[in-house]
This record gives sequence, C-alpha cells and structure tokens, in this order.
Amino acid sequence: MKPSTAPKTYRVKSFGCQMNVYDGERMAELLGDRGITPAPEGEEADLVVLNTCHIREKAAEKVYSDIGRLVKAGEAVGKKPLIAVAGCVAQAEGEEIMARAPAVSMVVGPQAYHRLPEMLDRAVKGERAADTDMPAIAKFDSLPQRRKIGPTAFLTVQEGCDKFCTYCVVPYTRGAEISRPFSDLIIEAQKLVEAGAREITLLGQNVNAWSGGDDKGRAQGLAGLIRAIAKIDGLERIRYTTSHPADMDEALIAAHGEVEKLMPYLHLPVQSGADRVLKAMNRSHTAESYLRLLERFRAARPDIALSGDFIVGFPGETEAEFADTLSLVDEVRYAQAYSFKYSPRPGTPAATMDGQIAREVMDERLQRLQAALNRDQFAFNQASVGKICDVLVERKGKHEGQWLGKSPWLQSVWFEGDCAIGDMVTVELAEAGPNSLKGLLRQSAAVA
Ligand code: 5AD
Ligand code: SF4
Repeated sequence: MKPSTAPKTYRVKSFGCQMNVYDGERMAELLGDRGITPAPEGEEADLVVLNTCHIREKAAEKVYSDIGRLVKAGEAVGKKPLIAVAGCVAQAEGEEIMARAPAVSMVVGPQAYHRLPEMLDRAVKGERAADTDMPAIAKFDSLPQRRKIGPTAFLTVQEGCDKFCTYCVVPYTRGAEISRPFSDLIIEAQKLVEAGAREITLLGQNVNAWSGGDDKGRAQGLAGLIRAIAKIDGLERIRYTTSHPADMDEALIAAHGEVEKLMPYLHLPVQSGADRVLKAMNRSHTAESYLRLLERFRAARPDIALSGDFIVGFPGETEAEFADTLSLVDEVRYAQAYSFKYSPRPGTPAATMDGQIAREVMDERLQRLQAALNRDQFAFNQASVGKICDVLVERKGKHEGQWLGKSPWLQSVWFEGDCAIGDMVTVELAEAGPNSLKGLLRQSAAVA
C-alpha cells in the first residue's frame, strides 16, 4: 500500500451496543488528541473507523459492503480514506478482513484500541497492522481524559463475559469478565460531571458482576460503586446496563429503594420463558427464579420500569415453549423490551444444535412477541399520564421551541417551553404515545 498523508479529519461509525458507543467516543478522543478533527457532516473523512458489532446477522458481510462504499465515495472526490475496522467483527475475523479487504489498513479489537494512534502512524507510512490482543485492563490506563460535554454519558465499568450462553459470541469477542478499579471509575465519573454530564450510565456486558475494593480496601459490588458515584455533586442520575440474573445481589436491590440518584429502571434480559430452552441456552435461571427476582426489585422500588431481552426461535423451540415466553411477558408487563430472532453465530454451541427453526416460523413468533411487548409499553406510558416528574433535557425536538428528554423511567418525553439542554426540569406527563409522551413544563428548574 502506498504511503498516505496524515489524516486531518476522522469519522467513527459505531454499530451495536452502548459499549460500542462508549468505545467509539474514546477512540474519537484518542484521534482528537492527535489534532485530527471530526469530519464535517456530508464530507468524506480522511480516516474512517468502522466500530463493528458481531452479535447478530451477517455483520461481517455488512462490514465488507461498508468498506466498498467508503472506497467508492472516496474515489468520487479524489481521495483514498484510511480505513480502520474496530469492534467485535475485528476481534472475531481480523485476519480474514486483512486478507479480503486491501483498502483496510488497520484492524483493532475492542481490548486493543488504545493502540490506534501507533497503528495510524504505521498506516500513514503505508503499512498495514492488525491488533486483536486482549490485555486485561491496560487499555483504560492509556486513554486520554474524558471531555464529554453532553448531559448524559456512558462509563464502562466492566467488560467481558464468563457466562457462555450457547447462542452468544460475546465471551469470544470481548473476553473474560474484568472489572475496572474503583478509584479509576470514581475519577472518570468526576471528570464526566466536570465536563457537563448530569446522568451517567454504567456499562458492562455483565455490569452487575462488577466487583472491586473501595478507597478503604473494602470489597464492593455494583451497589457500593453506585453509592460512591452518587456522592458526586452535580451528578443527578445514575443508570446501569446490562445485568445478568445470576449476578444480582440484595445490596443492588436495596440500593434501588435507598439511593435517590439511582433511576427506577432495570434492564434484565430473560431470553425465554421456557425452562427447557433456558437450560439449552445455558442461562442459569428458570422462568420462576427470574420472576421472583423481579418481585424483589418491585418490593424495593414499586414504580420500577422493567426491561428485558428476548430471543425467539432458539433451536428446538416448540410452539408451546414460545407460548411460555408470551405468558412470562403477560406476567411481567415490561415497560420496554428488546426482542430478536435467533441468529446462529459461527463458533457458538447453538449454531450446530439440532432443530434450527425456519425463518417464517421465527418471523411469525417475533411479530406476536413484539405485539405483546408494544401493547405493554403503551400501557406503561398510559399509566404514567398525570405523573409529575423530572426530565433531563437532552436535545431540541423536531419543531421550533420543542425539547426532548428522558423521564426517570427512561421514557422519551417532549414538551415546549423555556429551557436549555442539560436542564433538569419538572414536567407533567400529559399524553401517552406508544414510544414517547407529551409533557407540560411545570418548572424550568426542578426543585430539590
Ligand atoms: N441471536 C439472536 N439474539 C442474540 N442475542 C445475543 N446473541 C444472539 C443471537 N445469536 C441477543 C440477546 C442479548 C442481546 C444483547 O442480544 O437477547 O441479551
Ligand atoms: Fe452473551 Fe449470555 Fe454473556 Fe449476555 S450473559 S453477553 S447473552 S454469553
């Protein structure tokens, strides 16, 4: 490959989960430290980072078509962008990407992206490099300080997964569970708040598996970390995602009843309502143990909004087993949830199991499940009408004078009135839609 000139502009395109969004922001900060600036909207960037997701679909194929599109778009304006492939597809298929896509000069896994600047130096000289090492934790120590300016921010506290659900690639692409040290997290949270964040969402593939020693050396779980972060002045709201039922403890449940800044929302994937399927998935819970766990959260925080993940059409799933999933949904009445068709991932045990389900059957089941979930989400929104709550203003709405923000239950709320991005305002929830609520501004700044 011929040497290029040093890139002046970059674009990071993140796909998939919130952790990829966080990683994308941190890669942008690394590039920003090099004096490279975000490419203006509508302009081809000199350097493009494709921060990929491998969890479902033929994600790898999508990467190749994105690369092809970037090359063409570059040619049209007479430039050859430097292309880096990052994220979970990079981790899983790094060598293949290097072999199949000569336009790519950097492949960097989710645990190695702190080395992106060095790789960039080599790429500028015309060398190609792949780095899919998985050094535990080293990455975070070599990243620049946070300079997030929006009112909401992500903070990765834990990465990786040891659970090995039989359908999932995460344990292979993100590696074993590791927790970032307590003191690093307190410092990063403080920096985010100094930079304007009023809400922090703690991230981890198994966020509630986080553990560490606090500043006095005492062992803490996620609840202890949340309580410590809640002490930061200027921070108003704390959320966390995603949790695993097996890592839940009493301290976290209790925190929902006691820590005012901890928002009344829980995302707890269940995947299926049928115990045989759960066992084949290597989930360590049953439908019943999951429901009892939710009951304990509801006892601690009666208004808690519940969310979950579902997979339909796991190999061998019968109609009766799918009906068990619908019954579980009826019982929980989720405020919001995510549902997916099973997608065989190369290298996972489920991909070669007997009883792979036909696409049409999956489509039909997904439709029925989503109808039930949408019904419950709308019902949850309708039941919120009349409530007066805080809304953190995140952005301007579509129409002049309109604002958009989130309720404590993570509902999107839009309203009109005099305020600014980052304000915590008091709003009366006045009208419910399936995906959002209309609010009436009651007070421009919330009363403490
Ligand atoms: N097929 C379909 N959905 C999957 N998920 C993870 N792996 C797969 C797969 N192979 C879903 C699970 C998980 C969410 C992040 O993605 O529901 O909780
Ligand atoms: Fe994947 Fe299961 Fe780990 Fe979640 S808990 S990341 S679904 S293996």
